[in-house]
Amino acid sequence: MRIAITGGMGFIGQALARNLLRGGHDVLLIDNLSPQIHGDIPRATTPEGASLRRLDIKEIVDDHTLIDGCDAVYHLAAETGTAQSMYRIRHYVSVNELGTGALLEALAKCERRPAKLVLASSRSVYGEGAYIDPREPARIIQPTSRTPEQLAAGNWELLATDGHPLQPVATPENLSFAPGSVYAATKAAQELLIRSAAPALGITPVVLRFQNVFGEGQSLQNPYTGIISIFFNRARQGLPIALFEDGLESRDFVHIDDIVGGLVASLFADVPDEEAINLGAGEPTTVAQLAEALVEASGHAVQTNVTGEYRVGDIRHCYADIDRARRYLGYSPQVSLADGLARFCAWAESQPAFEDRSERAMAELRERKLASAG
Ligand SMILES: NC(=O)c1ccc[n+]([C@@H]2O[C@H](COP(=O)([O-])OP(=O)(O)OC[C@H]3O[C@@H](n4cnc5c(N)ncnc54)[C@H](O)[C@@H]3O)[C@@H](O)[C@H]2O)c1
Repeated sequence: MRIAITGGMGFIGQALARNLLRGGHDVLLIDNLSPQIHGDIPRATTPEGASLRRLDIKEIVDDHTLIDGCDAVYHLAAETGTAQSMYRIRHYVSVNELGTGALLEALAKCERRPAKLVLASSRSVYGEGAYIDPREPARIIQPTSRTPEQLAAGNWELLATDGHPLQPVATPENLSFAPGSVYAATKAAQELLIRSAAPALGITPVVLRFQNVFGEGQSLQNPYTGIISIFFNRARQGLPIALFEDGLESRDFVHIDDIVGGLVASLFADVPDEEAINLGAGEPTTVAQLAEALVEASGHAVQTNVTGEYRVGDIRHCYADIDRARRYLGYSPQVSLADGLARFCAWAESQPAFEDRSERAMAELRERKLASAG
């Protein structure tokens, strides 16, 4: 098959491309090699056998012949920093929404369109995600985002209206959109755009919502996203690791190999096109547990400090309900967090050391009152 991947030079795109190439597919990568991810002088090498077209996704309408005749398109090109999206709003809307619009318009101009368009969406569309009130456990609740006042008061956990603590549960796909950041809103908009335009173009849309993807090949230079890279860079330089809030916020960390497995399966599986599918490990890990495991796996014995700082737009807890992925894609996560971190650290250690820019990124947020004063 001939397969195009937008954002194909990114972390997930590269791993996906290598897998598809091994499967004998013809792979085209479309990517503008964004300096925030690739540096001012991009170092990333195109996977052997793939072709690369350096192009801003927003400009693809004029180059629609690139994707004419493709059997499938994966749409991964995006800006991905949750906190950064809260002030570079126009840019995030432009790349993520206009970029998706341009891709769809390019597809509309094609003579032979792909059968499937697979979107890399995000768990962020659920906002705070799914909770229960332990007093009424059968009912799923989707709390609204924590307010800046709540965060300033250090009230980290989600509470029922009468102040009773709520308990996070695995997030199913049938929750409503409740984006708590501009990034999340643009991912929800991408889903809506693809769902509204693709069927009319005779293309089956497949929407996959990833949790926190990590592993070998992820950007070590982007200080705006990628908690594992940020922690690793600091540990490597002997710097302490700062844990926001009380360190007990949790995420679902899923290894890149499992995500690629789900992405490839979605190409061949019969997926009901009106249903999004979560891809994650299906288990929560607190940020404090992650930091401890990373310090151990990296061999760099640095301190981890709970700072009580916070960022507006961050959610408290999340992990995916992966039943639908199991059912439709035969998905079953294979890489444990410990094994994945060991593999990531071995790879990251072999890479050039990059300056830690996470403090500067945090200062940018503070200046804009999007993070605690510190
Ligand atoms: N990594 C995660 O944890 C995660 C979680 C949820 C969803 N996702 C989604 O998966 C997709 C891929 O994420 P990733 O982690 O590989 O990110 P990444 O930043 O490593 O890769 C994104 C790629 O898109 C390219 N790009 C950015 N702007 C572009 C533009 N205007 N035109 C063309 N290319 C452009 C970048 O150069 C980069 O190569 C994104 O859509 C992201 O929203 C990722």
